[in-house]
Amino acid sequence: MITGWKCAVCGGTVDIAQPFTWRCANSTDADRHHAPQLVQTIAPLRSSGETNSFLGFRRFLAVDAFMDGAGIADGRRAELIAEIDAFTIAVDGHGFVTTPFERADTLSDELGFGVDGGVWVKDETHNVGGSHKARHLFPILLHLLAAEESGLATWTERPPLAIASCGNAAIAAATLAAAVTWPIRVFVPQAADQVVVATLQSLGASVIECPRRPADPPGDPCVHRFREAVTAGAIPFSVQGTENAWCHDGGRTIGWEMARYMDEQLDGPPFDRVFVQVGGGAVAASVAAGFRMSGISPMLHAVQTEACAPLSRAWERARSLGGPKSAAEHWADCMWPWESVGATAADGIVDDETYDWLPVVAGMADSNGSPIVVPESRVLEANEVGSRNTGIDASHTGTAGLAGLLAIREQVQPDERVAVIFSGVRRS
Ligand SMILES: Cc1ncc(COP(=O)(O)O)c(C=O)c1O
Ligand SMILES: [Zn+2]
Repeated sequence: MITGWKCAVCGGTVDIAQPFTWRCANSTDADRHHAPQLVQTIAPLRSSGETNSFLGFRRFLAVDAFMDGAGIADGRRAELIAEIDAFTIAVDGHGFVTTPFERADTLSDELGFGVDGGVWVKDETHNVGGSHKARHLFPILLHLLAAEESGLATWTERPPLAIASCGNAAIAAATLAAAVTWPIRVFVPQAADQVVVATLQSLGASVIECPRRPADPPGDPCVHRFREAVTAGAIPFSVQGTENAWCHDGGRTIGWEMARYMDEQLDGPPFDRVFVQVGGGAVAASVAAGFRMSGISPMLHAVQTEACAPLSRAWERARSLGGPKSAAEHWADCMWPWESVGATAADGIVDDETYDWLPVVAGMADSNGSPIVVPESRVLEANEVGSRNTGIDASHTGTAGLAGLLAIREQVQPDERVAVIFSGVRRS
């Protein structure tokens, strides 16, 4: 069903059975403007019903097609997923299960929705590592283990995993690495949150502080060190599509779970809108891809804060340069680092570039959605209102999608059905 990757920018293709195809073959350190997308035949989205989405939706995963190409038998492919899941539970206490998704009644009331409408909250705070991020990484790990098992991996010693992050992605990465005792190097800024650093260390990760070096080019020194490690042989265990496109494969499970809920459990009309907090853009891209496969795409609103809003700028630029359909031709004219990143409590979504902007722009265009840029007051309000009414203990980053709804609440009818994702458990 999935045959390979095709880059939305340069058209470069690669077969799904080829191992370690993390980036477009034409992507270089000087030019990361490439965006591999999965090539797949249209098939109705179905789940086997297994509560672990990597098992339930296994047929739709690129990594399953990769394992098939590597000669791993069907039963063994499922077994591998279950094995890694069991190791993950042993380390984290949580495995991959379909996460809760339900109408938040008191929140819906407080926001003035009627009985037919309301706000549905997808709760990712009890997912592996406390956020949705491990969804992006699981198939990358599975790819590596399958490559070892099938003899495609020729290393004598496992190359380390590498990630540049000091937030939920780093914790997800270190948790999965610990589950299968794979070495991992996490590149963090000097001012990294000490709670996160301690958690990473307790998971056995090698944490590398990255001060700016005099000879460094512009940009984040953590990313420079991460890329150097990858050049030296490390595996990009990244949740940014420009560093590892395979992160999009597993991310889609969140969209599939939401779409399947809409199909099978939601009485009455489908969702009208979905609000997703956007940093690098991978999760919004995944939600869009997941819904698209179900055949019904609610309006996608990508939410950023005034502190850092490169996506909304890119959206406007793309519209003035021939429209979202031709955005891939105008990467440099649409997306560049936000010049002056401000302070915000939603500090997990201040990526100065929305790396995966192309699929997010496409997802908004296809669904008649739009980006929303929220002031800090909405970020704070969303966290207070969201936690108080749902009891979900998410960080400000994790409730920032709700801030988007608060910001445009007047434009949303009381009978509309709206979905948001609360992710990233509050850590301090
Ligand atoms: C809790 C939470 N929600 C949303 C995001 C945004 O995800 P993305 O970077 O894929 O846009 C992040 C991290 O960046 C996060 O930690
Ligand atoms: Zn390319």
